[in-house]
Amino acid sequence: QITPVILCGGSGTRLWPRSRAEKPKPFLPLVGDNTLFEATVLRCADAGRFAPPLVVTGDKHLAHVESQLAAAPGAEVIVEPSARNTAAAIALAALRLSPGAIMLVCPSDHYIADCGAFVAAAEAAAALAAEDWLVSFGIEAKTPETGFGYLKRGAAISAGPGAQVARFVEKPDLARAEQFLASGEYAWNGGIFAFRAGFFLAELERHRPDIAEAARQAVALGREEGKRFHPDAAAFAAIRSESVDYAVMENTDRAAMVPADMGWSDIGNWEALHAARAQDAAGNHVSGPAELVDCRNVLVDSDGPRVSVIGLENVMIVVDNGEILVTSAAGAQKVGKLDGAVNQ
Ligand code: GDD
Ligand code: MG
Repeated sequence: QITPVILCGGSGTRLWPRSRAEKPKPFLPLVGDNTLFEATVLRCADAGRFAPPLVVTGDKHLAHVESQLAAAPGAEVIVEPSARNTAAAIALAALRLSPGAIMLVCPSDHYIADCGAFVAAAEAAAALAAEDWLVSFGIEAKTPETGFGYLKRGAAISAGPGAQVARFVEKPDLARAEQFLASGEYAWNGGIFAFRAGFFLAELERHRPDIAEAARQAVALGREEGKRFHPDAAAFAAIRSESVDYAVMENTDRAAMVPADMGWSDIGNWEALHAARAQDAAGNHVSGPAELVDCRNVLVDSDGPRVSVIGLENVMIVVDNGEILVTSAAGAQKVGKLDGAVNQ
């Protein structure tokens, strides 16, 4: 059995004004009826394959998490007293599990269209993790995105679909990302990982002993409260804030990958969200009251007021609780920098 470790930490300002500080991206039904968090839980709900999940989240998201955990009655929630990024969050989960447990680390703010392909990749990754590989899900790279990690495909491992990762490069600059894409040798890191808990901790200990030691302290001094676990606040606050990608994946010589062709999107902005939603023949998508005339590739998402649009192309219009966003598709990248998004 695989234990899903669901990470819930982000702020999601790039999907403002729908995503707000008090209710960010994972907890919204952005594609279909389920929230991204609920969909993450449901992907791992098959009790034959998956143990109940461990959710790692911050104090301020706890209420949302617990109200959206209906599909996983046996879940444990690790409540971080402060945010210390993913190396620490994953270490907490690993320390709560037995060393032999296979953990599947899942971000809670991604969209995956093909759940069957996800489960198949998870099983392939789990098999490699059992042999002490630190396994990433490799997504076919389509653009020179600088917000992702890149995996250089190395030698195949055994007969399965897995391969060694010859090199893991987190968030390269644009020139390197373009080089990686052109070479055809790199995949995107999907941010989903399979680890054996004990081996992850050994590799963390090796490359970032300070993080490993402080996380161990925080768990040793922590307290249980029903299905919640509270790491010790003072010990946890001392942990260096670093992502698992920089802390472990770039440094380990046991990185491996499984290819995952599963309709993955990290829904990083409104244009990406538009692409994941159902569209009509002209590429338009409407949620809420709207009238579109002679429009192409237009997204309208309104929580109340009717939006009427004539003759526009490649435009996203979002109305949410007194705020209106109008952006070109290309401009969607910059939404997180708007005053409205920054000063919520
Ligand atoms: N519990 C907890 N605590 N979760 C956290 C924390 C934290 O302090 N920080 C981040 N997370 C969660 C986020 O909510 C998200 O679900 C996941 O961990 C990944 O963090 P991001 O901050 O979204 O990482 P990223 O998008 O910059 O980069 C990662 O994902 C990319 C794919 O989307 C990396 O793994 C990249 O290599 C990868 O390509
Ligand atoms: Mg992310």
